[in-house]
Amino acid sequence: MTTSAPAHAPLGSIPPDLRCAADYELLAPRFMALPSHEYVAGGCGRDVTVAANLAAFAQWTVYPRLLRDVSAGHTRLSIAGVPFDHPVLLAPVAFQKLAHPHGEIETARAANAMQACMVGSTLSSCTLEQVAAAAGPQRWFQLYFQPRREDTRALLERAAAAGYQAIVVTLDAAIQTAGARALKAGFRMPPDCAPVNLLGQQGPAAIELDPEDSRIFQGAMRNAPTWADLSWLMAQTALPVWVKGVLHPDDAVALRDAGVAGIVVSNHGGRSLDGAPASLDALPAIRAALGAGYPVLFDSGIRSGTDIFKALALGADAVMIGRLQIYALAVAGALGVAHMIRLLREELEVCMALAGCATLDQIGPENLMRRPC
Ligand SMILES: Cc1cc2nc3c(=O)[nH]c(=O)nc-3n(C[C@H](O)[C@H](O)[C@H](O)COP(=O)(O)O)c2cc1C
Repeated sequence: MTTSAPAHAPLGSIPPDLRCAADYELLAPRFMALPSHEYVAGGCGRDVTVAANLAAFAQWTVYPRLLRDVSAGHTRLSIAGVPFDHPVLLAPVAFQKLAHPHGEIETARAANAMQACMVGSTLSSCTLEQVAAAAGPQRWFQLYFQPRREDTRALLERAAAAGYQAIVVTLDAAIQTAGARALKAGFRMPPDCAPVNLLGQQGPAAIELDPEDSRIFQGAMRNAPTWADLSWLMAQTALPVWVKGVLHPDDAVALRDAGVAGIVVSNHGGRSLDGAPASLDALPAIRAALGAGYPVLFDSGIRSGTDIFKALALGADAVMIGRLQIYALAVAGALGVAHMIRLLREELEVCMALAGCATLDQIGPENLMRRPC
């Protein structure tokens, strides 16, 4: 068995004991090889931020409200002027063949069926063209800057030619250190799970380090993007450019002022800087700094529709789902991902209805109470 082989083949049906979206997280270990599961579930370092993401949601409770008529309720919204049926997007998640033999193609089919926007990763294990062919009209492309500008530009051109509607450039992962859980499980990327979008690239020019040089500053960070690279990027494409990985209000304001279409408040699901704040804890200050109206997406730690409600209440316009999408993919392929999205929508609707909110724009901080210490 390779590290990518699932413990059991994905089901063609939904397990009968699966009652809520979070159940996919509980069931996934049965359907994934242990090292692959640990790679997906873990974060970086000691998983301090992974834990913080989940704990942050538990600190908030939702006030039930009585006697409000929500019978005309719905979850429609517009994001940067584009209409969506619901506020659930699929976050970019690399190497999905770790969870399913067809990888991102299954996820894209589910997104299409559920009118969900899928954000395809630069590091997908199917090509961005294959993902585009299976995804719905709302598909966005997540970009990692490549060491050579011509390679970054080539990805932008391929994304535009394949009909992606926006570029989401991820800026919080210039270095990613291995996570303890993946290391402990002996995870190694299997050969059938390659970053196929990057095949044919020359790779970075070799970096010669002097003995006194740092492996990090003069090594890994030498090719890391800067503000100048972001300006260059925005001049290369006619597509709207979003930035993913924002946690500081000053960065959020500077990005808006630089002309970025919108931001994703995210700590990469705890996979980048171990010790970064929970994304949910960072969200209110970012919304306050930006004011109403500027597009803000959110991810990191969402496991239920009530979590989505809390993120919207604290300032997000919509959310992106990371690990749950992979767990659902592992359990039941496209059907599982579609079912997971439907469950999240219904859980959100139940929460909205009982909180007395008929529409997303009625959800605000006044719907939440901080859990007493
Ligand atoms: C296995 C895995 C791979 C990921 N790959 C990418 C990626 O290629 N690009 C990216 O911007 N984010 C990537 N992310 C981060 C997700 O987009 C998202 O920020 C995170 O998963 C949200 O947290 P959650 O998993 O708690 O929902 C990855 C996350 C996981 C778990």
